[in-house]
Amino acid sequence: MSVQKIHIFDTTLRDGEQVPGCKLVTAEKLLIARQLELLGVDVIEAGFPISSPGDFEAVKAIAAQTREATVCGLSRALEGDIRTAAEALKPARYPRIHTGIGTSELHIRYKLKTTREAVLSRAVAAVRLARSFVEDVEFYAEDAGRTDNEFLARVCEAAIRAGATVLNIPDTTGYCLPHEFGAKIKYLYEHVKGVENVILSTHCHNDLGLATANSIAGVTNGARQIECTINGVGERAGNTALEEVVMILRQHPYLNLHTGINTRLLAETSALVSELMRMPVQPNKAIVGANAFSHSSGIHQDGVIKHRETYEIIDPRDVGVADSSIVLTARSGRAALAFRLQKLGYCFDKGTLDQAYEAFLQTADRKKEVVDEDLHQLVDEANLISKA
Ligand code: KIV
Ligand code: ZN
Repeated sequence: MSVQKIHIFDTTLRDGEQVPGCKLVTAEKLLIARQLELLGVDVIEAGFPISSPGDFEAVKAIAAQTREATVCGLSRALEGDIRTAAEALKPARYPRIHTGIGTSELHIRYKLKTTREAVLSRAVAAVRLARSFVEDVEFYAEDAGRTDNEFLARVCEAAIRAGATVLNIPDTTGYCLPHEFGAKIKYLYEHVKGVENVILSTHCHNDLGLATANSIAGVTNGARQIECTINGVGERAGNTALEEVVMILRQHPYLNLHTGINTRLLAETSALVSELMRMPVQPNKAIVGANAFSHSSGIHQDGVIKHRETYEIIDPRDVGVADSSIVLTARSGRAALAFRLQKLGYCFDKGTLDQAYEAFLQTADRKKEVVDEDLHQLVDEANLISKA
């Protein structure tokens, strides 16, 4: 089977920025957009131009700055939204308008207060209008995760006929289970006429912690684009985390799905977004959390010191982290203590290590973590070990 490219559509600056307290100014958005381009994302969703003059200006500035990636602007299926998005995207080398409408019964009945037939015709009109401005038009079927497959297929087919180049199938509320979401993509792949000429896209939210799993289920069933954000930022429980899906595909090459992401820039990109959005990354966050490559239990430390791969499935350097770390706590064993003492330049025999370990445990019981300074002090006080 040939290797298939998975397009990475980053929506940190649109869906990600909807988080309360994470608002960015244009200069900050430009910095993030430049970093995303360096990272190698295929599409940067720069904002929702009609939402505010500030967002319009930011999308325009990002469109002017970006030369490699496609720049995308969001719009509802409304004429004013689409015209404003087209205007903001004018300076883009590769512009894309992202337009769409809710397709689930809940959205049609309670939010839009309309009918399925009206949704279909609004979808078609929106895509046609967007195509009159740009060649690349992505259509989203909001709440596709809770939309019945037959109607969803009808909407997708109509959007393709109207000129859509990408079909976004969002699990807007993060409700689907991975096998259901995968089956939905497969169904569309098998039932929508003309689907072979467009890209199917996943856009998963994390309300049940399944955004990453659902995105992977999507691409293993035929989707060729993943919409995601750095650090998984986004409304409520967030969006699919870019770093997670990219590393999953990289670490499982037999899936034959590859992205163009320079993974060595993941750690610095995560830190930049976290800093500018004032949104700390949880320490145990996969790939980019502070503890993602740190080992603290004695059993794991002993294994990692003997052979890294016993407890590490990713080489930290592949995501831009200099090295994994052996953290000394009261759960650490002699192997970890010896490893850290050697790194500090001390040499010792087994007898002195045993004595040092007793002294170490006393310090470790008092402190959450034993750091280099504690080790120097311990060696000085116990007068046990000489410097190499
Ligand atoms: O979650 C969602 O459905 C969205 C759309 C606007 C694409 O963000
Ligand atoms: Zn979303």
